[in-house]
Amino acid sequence: MLNRTAFGDEKNAGNVLSKEAAHQLLNDWVKNERLQLHMKQVACLMKCWAAEKEGLSEADQWRWELAGLLHDADWDQWPDLHCIKIIEELESRDICPEIIRAIASHGPNHFGVNPVTKMDKMLFAFDELSGLTHAYSLMRPQGYAGMELKGIKKRFKEKGFAANVNREEIEDAMNRAGVELESIMQFIIERQGLAI
Ligand SMILES: [Fe+2]
Repeated sequence: MLNRTAFGDEKNAGNVLSKEAAHQLLNDWVKNERLQLHMKQVACLMKCWAAEKEGLSEADQWRWELAGLLHDADWDQWPDLHCIKIIEELESRDICPEIIRAIASHGPNHFGVNPVTKMDKMLFAFDELSGLTHAYSLMRPQGYAGMELKGIKKRFKEKGFAANVNREEIEDAMNRAGVELESIMQFIIERQGLAI
C-alpha cells in the first residue's frame, strides 16, 4: 500500500522524459529482459490505444506510452519498494503528475490507489492481460502470428495456465475501464507482437 493520494506536482503538468531518457532509465533499472519486454509491450498497447481509441495528439500518446514503459521499473531491483521507488524518481524529475498517478494506480488492490482517468484505467486493464497473452504466445510455434481470440479465451479459463495471472483482477480492471474483455483481448492479440 502506498498510503498516499496525491502524486507529483500540478505545476509539472505535461512534463515528460525524452525517449532517450526513458529508455536509459529502463536499461539502468531493469536488467531482467523478460520484464523489460513486458514493459515495452504494455507501452506499445498504451500508445496504440491513445492513438486509435482516444484520438490523442502525439504528445499525449507519448505520455500514455511512458506510463506503460515505466510502470514496473522498480520491480526488478527493489521488489519491496515496488511503485514507491519509481514514483519518487519521477517526482524528483518533475514529471507530469498524470503519468505518476497512472503508475501509482496500476494495481489498486496492491497499492490502494484507484484508477481514475482513462489512462489509469487502461494501464490497469492491459497489465495482467498482456502478461497472459505473452505467456500464450511463448507456447505457440508461431508466437503472435495467427493467434486467435478463441485461443486466448480458452487459456484465460484454464486456471492452471499462467497461474500467477489473477483472472479476477483482470475482470475488475475491465469493469473499471468500462471495456469488454474480449475486445481488449483482440486489441492485444493484434498489436502486442509489434513490441518484440
Ligand atoms: Fe506490469
